[in-house]
Amino acid sequence: MDGTATQSAQHSADLLRIPPGNPTEEPDAEAILFDGAAPPPFPDLNIFPLSWRTETPKLNELYESSRDPGWNPSRLPWHTLNVEDYTLDQRYALAYWWGLLSTFDGSGPVVFARTMIHTFETHEEDPVRKCFFSITRDEMHHEEVCGRAIQTLTPGGPLGYVPETMLGKLAQNNVQWLYHNGARYWDSFKNAVHKYPLPILFTSFLMGEVASATLFNGMYKSTTIPVFKEAFRCIGQDEARHMGICIAVLERILPALTDEQRTMITKQIRAGFVFLSAVLYEPPRDFWELPPTFNDANRRLEEVARSAGLGILTLEQRRENWRNAVLKMKGLLEPHGIVFPALPEVGIDGETVAFDPEDIIPVF
Ligand SMILES: [Fe+2]
Ligand SMILES: [Fe+2]
Repeated sequence: MDGTATQSAQHSADLLRIPPGNPTEEPDAEAILFDGAAPPPFPDLNIFPLSWRTETPKLNELYESSRDPGWNPSRLPWHTLNVEDYTLDQRYALAYWWGLLSTFDGSGPVVFARTMIHTFETHEEDPVRKCFFSITRDEMHHEEVCGRAIQTLTPGGPLGYVPETMLGKLAQNNVQWLYHNGARYWDSFKNAVHKYPLPILFTSFLMGEVASATLFNGMYKSTTIPVFKEAFRCIGQDEARHMGICIAVLERILPALTDEQRTMITKQIRAGFVFLSAVLYEPPRDFWELPPTFNDANRRLEEVARSAGLGILTLEQRRENWRNAVLKMKGLLEPHGIVFPALPEVGIDGETVAFDPEDIIPVF
């Protein structure tokens, strides 16, 4: 420091004055609090204020078990899927089925991500929010499997390639129609998620999880294609955990339903059944806008995919599986005074309910 700087520092120090009063004295907290004001109330549907309460300890266990799902799509044995082993039509048909599945599994990540945000906005208990986070991650994996299968079998697929056979053209047309309906589903879901209370959302999701656990279990047992067998096993395991999450929440909230909520659930089950039937069984007319060629093309494509070893169950087996899955739901819900809707497509009697495409929530 030179002479000028030393003088200037001395000058600044001289200007310092001891403040009035004793600065070492404790501030008077009561006086400060008395003058303090609370902020304005928190707006509805805001993620703040945060809290980390647990009402359903079982959900914490399920979340812990989901932290490491034990698999991921890039570790599946894709190198064993050699497209040269299949005819062109078999490749188209295999990719077609994954395209059909992606109408459902492809909506999974966005449906659950949107719902996770909703659980923050409605201040659900901490493990509910975390479970939705884990389901979103799992669904992203399932969607990735669809994409990898389609891209391996039909690069650029499902819509961005030019099929070379008639069956390939039919497959592409069918997927276009499936995605048309997927887009309609997404539009109604976006409105429904804010419209329904938690018990309704969870019953609807349970329908999707029961459906998917059933589907993947059946296909795991019957496919002969190694990479798909492993994929079905892993996805099925995830879906069973999702089902467990829904059941854990429902066990807590079902006993406290209002009559209005019970009626809503009856309608929701019918809506979920109609939507999910397209992959579990056959698409009913109630929701699905499809051309007259759809079902014939779908059956032909399924036959060819079956001949390639995909493990698609016969129509009769699917009907039986779907029926049993829905009966499980019925057993769970009826003790809580929920009237089950008629599902004549799989031979289940019940109350006839009006169908509203705006009501569809479930996916897997
Ligand atoms: Fe899924
Ligand atoms: Fe799921």
